[in-house]
Amino acid sequence: MNRYRMHINGESVEAHGGAWFPVYDPSTEEIIAEVPDADEHDVNHAVQAARAAFDSGAWPQTTAQERGRILLRLAERIRKESAPLAELESRNSGKPIVEAEYDMADVATCFEYYGGLATKVMGHVNPVPDNALSLSLREPVGVAGQIIPWNYPLLMAAWKLAPAVAAGCTCVLKPAEQTPLTALEMARWFADVGLPRGVVNIITGFGETAGAPLVRHPEVNKVAFTGSAAAGKLILKSAAESIKRVTLELGGKSPNIFFADADFEAAIDGALFGVFINQGEVCSAGSRILVERSIYSHFVEAMTEKAKRIKLGTPLQRETKMGPLVSKEQYERVRSYQELGKQEARLVAGGGRPAGMDKGYYVEPTIFCDVDNSARIAQEEIFGPVAAVIPFQNEAEAIRIANDTPYGLAAAVWSRDIFKAFRVVKALRAGIIWVNHMQPTYVEAPWGGYKQSGFGRELGPWGIEEYLETKQVHINLNEQPIGWY
Ligand code: NAI
Ligand code: MG
Repeated sequence: MNRYRMHINGESVEAHGGAWFPVYDPSTEEIIAEVPDADEHDVNHAVQAARAAFDSGAWPQTTAQERGRILLRLAERIRKESAPLAELESRNSGKPIVEAEYDMADVATCFEYYGGLATKVMGHVNPVPDNALSLSLREPVGVAGQIIPWNYPLLMAAWKLAPAVAAGCTCVLKPAEQTPLTALEMARWFADVGLPRGVVNIITGFGETAGAPLVRHPEVNKVAFTGSAAAGKLILKSAAESIKRVTLELGGKSPNIFFADADFEAAIDGALFGVFINQGEVCSAGSRILVERSIYSHFVEAMTEKAKRIKLGTPLQRETKMGPLVSKEQYERVRSYQELGKQEARLVAGGGRPAGMDKGYYVEPTIFCDVDNSARIAQEEIFGPVAAVIPFQNEAEAIRIANDTPYGLAAAVWSRDIFKAFRVVKALRAGIIWVNHMQPTYVEAPWGGYKQSGFGRELGPWGIEEYLETKQVHINLNEQPIGWY
């Protein structure tokens, strides 16, 4: 059996209890590797390593220039190894190889971006009215506990690690139990690129037994989490105990809004891309498709027609446009929403398991139309290729429906009328809004949600802010005593 080990304090280690758990290829349902099943003891070991590296190891002496160069060297290594990395990511997560290749390029770009940003973190001189020099210094927040999901495994690791390392933090990262392999592959290069031991530690394990102890560990200063709202709520409560800094990205039920004056062909493609990319396992999936009444039936027809031609297949085949879902658990969850949707709305495409594919966690791209926004398939995050199409009468109704959700991660608006489009942009309560597009994501721009989609921003200069504290320093320049007493 292909066994991967965790990465703690620069060493490749097993769980102290000696337990392992299997990692699957979701297209064959076969085990492809085993990883250590970490528990509280292992989490403690990793946190101690990160703590020691932050407090007294080589890291506090490392300059911002050197931290930047380490990240750039890591990026270079990832670009060099991107083909095998993409293949491993594709096999383990089920995403099409072409998408995995894009992900690996984005991973490298993310490390490059923060490699450059490391030397652009600047303090301030505060204009106090005294004969004094008042400074605001930016300092790393300390040890970061980082917990990530399975939909973009290595990319989510990069979004978490790159800004933290650039800021001068040390990290304990826990990948999702379904998809730990690419992060562990990457850890093999840490020493080569000059990352001192203990700065980045990677533990493998489950949410309750490895994630939860990381969140409650008193030596962890900050927790960054991407995943379900349910886990996010537990994390926020647990982090309260030691007043940790917390950032949460909790997914959504994002509206993709189509006005009658939108470019029709582009709109159909944008509706499908918005909800079906990465098998719909996307936090910003445009899973509620709002369409203006006057084009509604034509739109549903065209969309359905095109959805039926989406090529499902083995992730490693280049022509595959949709692979299996990541796990049996996710497959069953999405299948149950497909069945629920049949009771709540009108099924026009998919709705089950694709015929002739009896191995692997495949589901058909599925479209429900005439969905009421209060239906469960319009309110609950499905995280699979299931679209809810909802008609609207006018701009005001589109805005009302779009905002009628506890979530607020993303949204998109399609129209040729820039005035209308921008009115809608301003009215939407969401952290990321696309106009005449949906999903492109860039490391230069902020990422994060409103409402129950969480708080804090990743990427760009916003991303590094979340790993920095601000220290006020007041330097008295008066040579005479103040003479108060
Ligand atoms: P999850 O939120 O349980 O898992 C995500 C990560 O959190 C994993 O690393 C997991 O081990 C960890 N985790 C789980 N419970 C934890 C806890 N109590 N303390 C600390 N860490 C914990 O997501 P799951 O169960 O895999 O998927 C369920 C649903 O969550 C999906 O159907 C989808 O709706 C949503 N989700 C949203 C994501 C997003 O990008 N916002 C990503 C993954 C899932
Ligand atoms: Mg869970």
